Amino acid sequence: MTTSPELDPNAVAPSMANLETIVSLSKRRGFVFPSSEIYGGINAVWDYGPLGVELKNNVKRAWWKSMIQERDDVVGLDAGILMHPNVWVASGHVGSFSDPLVECGSCRRRFRLDELPGAEDLSATELRDDTIVARMGLRCPVDQGPLSAPRRFNLMFKTYMGPVEEEANIVYLRPETAQGSYVNFKNAQQSSRKKLPFGIAQIGKSFRNEISPGNFVFRMREFEQMEMQYFVRPEEAADQFETWLPRRLAWYKAYGVTPSRLRLREHAPDELAHYAKKAVDVEYRFPFGWKELEGVHNRGNFDLSRHSEMSGENLEYFDPATNEKFIPFIVEAAAGADRAAFTFLIDSYREEEVRGETRVSLALHPDLAPYKVAVLPLLKKRPEIVQLCHAIKDDLKRDMMAVYDDTAAIGKLYRRQDEIGTPFCVTVDVDSLEDGAVTLRDRDTMTQERIPVEGIKRAIQDRMEAARRAIAGG
Ligand code: GAP
Repeated sequence: MTTSPELDPNAVAPSMANLETIVSLSKRRGFVFPSSEIYGGINAVWDYGPLGVELKNNVKRAWWKSMIQERDDVVGLDAGILMHPNVWVASGHVGSFSDPLVECGSCRRRFRLDELPGAEDLSATELRDDTIVARMGLRCPVDQGPLSAPRRFNLMFKTYMGPVEEEANIVYLRPETAQGSYVNFKNAQQSSRKKLPFGIAQIGKSFRNEISPGNFVFRMREFEQMEMQYFVRPEEAADQFETWLPRRLAWYKAYGVTPSRLRLREHAPDELAHYAKKAVDVEYRFPFGWKELEGVHNRGNFDLSRHSEMSGENLEYFDPATNEKFIPFIVEAAAGADRAAFTFLIDSYREEEVRGETRVSLALHPDLAPYKVAVLPLLKKRPEIVQLCHAIKDDLKRDMMAVYDDTAAIGKLYRRQDEIGTPFCVTVDVDSLEDGAVTLRDRDTMTQERIPVEGIKRAIQDRMEAARRAIAGG
């Protein structure tokens, strides 16, 4: 395994929020709620609240923009969650998409072997070894009972298609979006008349019956992926891999993730997924350790060859430039929308002392922030001020998420917006009625600028544009 030299010892990272702080802020401010909470909740499923859905939509939009909108060589797709069951036989998921499960002989609790204390660093080969639990003397972490030998537990959810619940009608909830892109390779390539190299990208729900989900939205049983499959000539796959990897790492940095909390980790040969020739994870240093944020994989021609064999459909690509026919190799960039949103949330969390009080803010990139601007009255008792606020807010709303709030004094209103990451606040005061100007406050610097009402939208858009230019590096 190799670790990239991405760690910059001189980079001073803001102190990291602990998980409880983020979970509590998420609930209180409406980012993420436990699913079915009034029934006691359901493990490993989370619901996105009014602000969370904005954040996640913005994350997905940012990904779509960089993967499709700004490129000529990648097209979008939205394939079904349910697919022909043979897709999952061909892909190898029915046979080998599994984790090592051990069971306590006394309390019957089940654990993922590689998450037991002391077993975290076992190699993939050791995790498949029947004798490993006994050899290491591993015991149940809850009641110290004896643990079984590991067995492979398939992570795919099954259900039945149609009214008859029998073996022949089993279908799976997809565990990755990638296969939808592979089975549509010819459809997408021919309908969009793309030549290699070209990619298919999609965002959508995936499902995995994880043995030990947890850490908030980090590992869930229902989650959303943002995956791009890049089809290339076999001899170009290695170079394309090396191009996509830094590009994907740069995406997280561009949207503000602290560079010293990002690193690359290459999979050891015995750790590689059944389809992968090479895999490198973009990892983030979560409060619970370095964990995968995104996987970049060289999948070779495994997937298209298997689907060709199983379906009988020729999935070769004809290269008009060389008159050659071949099965393309695939370089995949597979990210999680929930993990990315979680990362932006936790990484942007700031606490600082301001005039003897703790100011909490989310230093989210303006493109990711749920609300771009809040319009606030200094005096809510003056109807003309409130009226002007609504007129400004209604005009802003045509172009961006804007909100009006008058339920507290101005200092508290600012703090509320800081805590949900709103980059700009517009304040209307008594002077505004005279001079037609309002105050534009910046979340991060807390500086305030007086701007004519008619120029406020432009001023915000210019600042948003400047933040975008910083992404493009220009
Ligand atoms: N198509 C390849 C693939 O699915 P993966 O590494 O298993 O690769 C890709 O998944 C990404 O999907 C991960 O990096 C992670 O961000 C997200 N992901 C996977 N399992 C998840 C889970 N149980 N909960 C939340 N996100 C998950």
